[in-house]
Amino acid sequence: MTEIHKLDDKGIAKAAKLLRKGETVSFPTETVYGLGADATSDTAVAKIYTAKGRPSFNPLIVHVPNIKSIERYATLSPMGQKLADAFWPGALTLVLKLKSNSKISKLVSAGLDTVAIRMPAHGGARDLLRVSDLPIAAPSANASGKLSPSEASHVKQSLDGRIPLILDGGSCAVGLESTIVDVSGDQPTLLRPGGVAAESIEAILGCKLLRSDSDDTAPKSPGMLSSHYAPVSKIRLNAEDVEDNETLIGFGNVLDAKFNLSESGDTTEAAANLFRILHEADKVASGKIAISPIPNDGLGLAINDRLKRAAAPRPNE
Ligand code: TXA
Ligand code: MG
Repeated sequence: MTEIHKLDDKGIAKAAKLLRKGETVSFPTETVYGLGADATSDTAVAKIYTAKGRPSFNPLIVHVPNIKSIERYATLSPMGQKLADAFWPGALTLVLKLKSNSKISKLVSAGLDTVAIRMPAHGGARDLLRVSDLPIAAPSANASGKLSPSEASHVKQSLDGRIPLILDGGSCAVGLESTIVDVSGDQPTLLRPGGVAAESIEAILGCKLLRSDSDDTAPKSPGMLSSHYAPVSKIRLNAEDVEDNETLIGFGNVLDAKFNLSESGDTTEAAANLFRILHEADKVASGKIAISPIPNDGLGLAINDRLKRAAAPRPNE
């Protein structure tokens, strides 16, 4: 049975104890709920893959409490340092060169010579990192291929009975996953759009990010299968109107929308609402969801990336 515990000192202590025993725990971050385990333990990390039913070539993000602790695991390049200074703690993940003597489990980086690292801003996540005194490997806490969880109830829906504990810290403020930038080589590359806008990153670096398009046959960010974040319903994107049998998720001032990501047309607000509204629409829709066009600026790029995956043909279709 999976226990849901409030995110208070008792909950944190309980979660930290489970993590130190090699168990998995779901905890909130400012982006989405993570499914955490001790990043230095192969068996603990393996439990993440099992609970999620995740393809094993998909590496995980390591969460750390401060920049200093990275030294033990990876090399922070000058570009990485600049981005860490500007955006950490926060919704940015950096892909860095793994140190050869690093204690991080090989399962975390799925055999790559790089590791993805993030320093979260969420107070509860930071407390858990401090109290457990472990680097925590954590993908989003959903079964593989399903919607990302921005509330504890989403985690419960997806992973009930498969993990011992969920810390309930309410809704996640950002609501979609971190932006992933590879700064392990000469050219900074955007591997996944997310909670920090690509434009803001480019402004700090003073140069454009290379973009890696998701490609199932040669995944650059290996987890980025195109059918991801799949709700049960069929999704129609860029819908200018709504058909009789569809449930419309609007953006901006849209009539006939049962749900609206942001009535004022704000992409940051839309990002925070995205997964919750997809979950809710999926529950009430009779098989079909239409979604209004969303501009690509600000967090719109990340939202459209997630929506494209939600709408992609499923592997068994
Ligand atoms: O906001 C987030 O990033 C959330 C919270 C829990 O921190 N985590 C999250 O993790 O979204 P996950 O596992 O769902 O997505 C991790 C992504 C995957 O697409 C994976 O392929 C990529 O990070 N990744 C991990 N390590 C990598 C590496 N060494 N090189 C390239 N991509 C990597
Ligand atoms: Mg995920």
